[in-house]
Amino acid sequence: MTDDERRDVLVVGGGGREHALVRGLARSARIGRLCCAPGNAGIAADAEIIALGAEDLPGLTAFVEKERIDLVVVGPEAPLVSGLGDKLRERGVAVFGPNADGALLEGSKTFAKQVMYAAGVPTGQAAAFTGRDEAKAYLINHGAPVVIKADGLAAGKGVVVALTQSEAEAALDDCFVARRFGDAGGIVLIEEFLEGEELSLLSVVSGQQILSLAPAQDYKRALDGDFGPNTGGMGSYSPVPSVDDALYAELVEKVVRPTVEELGRRGIDFRGVLYAGLMLTAKGPKVLEFNCRFGDPETQAILPRLKSDLLDLLWAAAVGEELPAVDWHPGAAVGVVMASRGYPASSSKGDVIRGVDDAAALLEVEVFHAATAWAAGALVTSGGRVLTVTGRGDSFAEARARAYAGVAAIKFDGAQFRSDIALRAQQRERGG
Ligand code: AMP
Ligand code: GLY
Repeated sequence: MTDDERRDVLVVGGGGREHALVRGLARSARIGRLCCAPGNAGIAADAEIIALGAEDLPGLTAFVEKERIDLVVVGPEAPLVSGLGDKLRERGVAVFGPNADGALLEGSKTFAKQVMYAAGVPTGQAAAFTGRDEAKAYLINHGAPVVIKADGLAAGKGVVVALTQSEAEAALDDCFVARRFGDAGGIVLIEEFLEGEELSLLSVVSGQQILSLAPAQDYKRALDGDFGPNTGGMGSYSPVPSVDDALYAELVEKVVRPTVEELGRRGIDFRGVLYAGLMLTAKGPKVLEFNCRFGDPETQAILPRLKSDLLDLLWAAAVGEELPAVDWHPGAAVGVVMASRGYPASSSKGDVIRGVDDAAALLEVEVFHAATAWAAGALVTSGGRVLTVTGRGDSFAEARARAYAGVAAIKFDGAQFRSDIALRAQQRERGG
């Protein structure tokens, strides 16, 4: 892209991830019109809000054609799995996000396993079942702990780490008898239980080109010390001190590259983010899952450190040009999620949020909105994960202190957040 070219961009989605994408794109020297559908109350300050849901494929397609949008950046997985990428590409629109064939890496865990086996990518042993009786028989032979996974999309709730046989049986009944995940749970994987440190490695992929981003760590459990139920993610940090250059190179060469090559052999031209959820086990890194998009809340910790132009990178990947090299700000970024009362079992709507501007005015603090809305002139909560407050600094100690100073400035009834995000990274940095 030359300096005087401007691109009109639509970001699809309305969470903290999309707010971080919008902020990154808004900083580009080459951004023209910047739209977001459906966005949220915070995104409204940074982009033009388009009142279309992320899963309204006909509406989005019509809007993009009518307004001659140059690039569509798709945040969530569901529209990608449903073929939003295909629909837009058929109309000649550049899209950052794979077609349905590539999105199947996230849309079907059995497909992802087949790709990993064919590519020789290290992952846990697993067996797939379509009926409860065979699954139970396997379970009795195998024993607990095991991990039960619904094959299809289940909004992050389709995985049960079963420490006992009865928990595992209950999870199978949930899928096959209660049909808790509908068709998504009609096929179930029983996977070997893996132990270690978890890591998210996101790579921008365009055909056979790979540009892996700084690694990140995500906090899935609701409570400090990794207790409580699984959530969509309560915080994240980037980079990850335990990932040195050698391990980073190993992850790219043993996981990302063979996967991308296997997609190529299957005729899949993947253009978007290949997200590898990894477990660093005593026997080496193993893939827990692939996602076909940016992670949430990892993106809120990764993108604030990106020095290079985000639009140039996403554009090059979408149109298949050579991917530019990227630079990062030194130091660390720490993102803390603030959730509403009851999350993750339920969520509270309509609680008035105060102090966001005060937090955002702090040095090296950014506030990304997720479930926020305007009601009678007040900013209010509108769902579970309300905001991500990200602090950046030369060290984890500094980034954490800034993030938590931002959190302390923000008040709403029932606000809950973890107080230990990036604590381990900070302790490691001190040599502790
Ligand atoms: P997934 O959606 O596949 O990433 O699974 C959600 C969470 O379940 C992961 O982030 C892990 O914490 C956990 N998990 C998934 N697979 C395994 C496994 N094989 N062993 C242990 N924990 C797992
Ligand atoms: N942070 C996990 C995910 O985006 O799926």
